Amino acid sequence: MRIALIGFGKMGREIDAIARAQGETIARVFDSRTPVKPQALEGIDVCIEFSTPEAALANIRACIEAKRDIVVGTTGWLEHLPKLKDDVKDSGLLYSANFSLGMNIFQRIVSHAAALIEKAPEYDPFIHEVHHRQKKDSPSGTAIRLANILLDTIGRKNKDTLSISSNRAGLVTGTHTVAFDSEADLIELRHTAKNRRGFALGALTAARWLHGRKGVYTMDDVEL
Ligand SMILES: NC(=O)c1ccc[n+]([C@@H]2O[C@H](COP(=O)([O-])OP(=O)(O)OC[C@H]3O[C@@H](n4cnc5c(N)ncnc54)[C@H](OP(=O)(O)O)[C@@H]3O)[C@@H](O)[C@H]2O)c1
Repeated sequence: MRIALIGFGKMGREIDAIARAQGETIARVFDSRTPVKPQALEGIDVCIEFSTPEAALANIRACIEAKRDIVVGTTGWLEHLPKLKDDVKDSGLLYSANFSLGMNIFQRIVSHAAALIEKAPEYDPFIHEVHHRQKKDSPSGTAIRLANILLDTIGRKNKDTLSISSNRAGLVTGTHTVAFDSEADLIELRHTAKNRRGFALGALTAARWLHGRKGVYTMDDVEL
């Protein structure tokens, strides 16, 4: 596959190294000094976008205009998705706040837990997440996704009453805790990312799955 990397920071560099080791071709790299233009995507099979919440929308638009498939890992841009959805007809767009296999398994575990907690009103759910101090969006896109999983199932909670707390500190790659507290005990489910490798492997798996498909997808659509 001929891949264009949009954003060449911590994630872009990790994907670059793993993709090359897997025999893929990194044909183009774009960053803030060389922003992506539709005409620069000639001959590209899939774009992989890990940039900033501010830059993501314009980058995604350029890929849609060039009719190129795009995997979006950037978080904090999702409020713009409704404006784009109808334009994704001749190519594919796949987004996820968290590409790691472990996190996608974790989300399914949280969904099962939510079904049990829905039937146990003495438990109060909450979410806590920690990321390195440079992370720009807060709460994380993954925390918002976890909150939506809980809200879809636990009828007694809503957006205003489900507490999400965020820490931005040190070099933490990403820790998400989903907890259920009661007078008698505390249940905690935790996912801790040890490094960026899992995100990069997942983004490349998603890119291979997406290539040739049309429309908007998430990691839930990709077979694990
Ligand atoms: N979905 C997931 O699984 C997952 C996992 C980890 C991180 N993330 C998210 O992915 C994003 C990137 O994370 P990171 O750790 O790689 O951040 P990072 O190290 O800060 O890198 C961001 C990169 O974006 C580039 N950039 C800025 N404006 C751009 C533009 N207009 N066009 C192209 N590139 C541009 C920056 O270039 P300059 O250096 O030239 O400014 C930099 O190379 C964040 O939103 C983060 O939350 C998602």
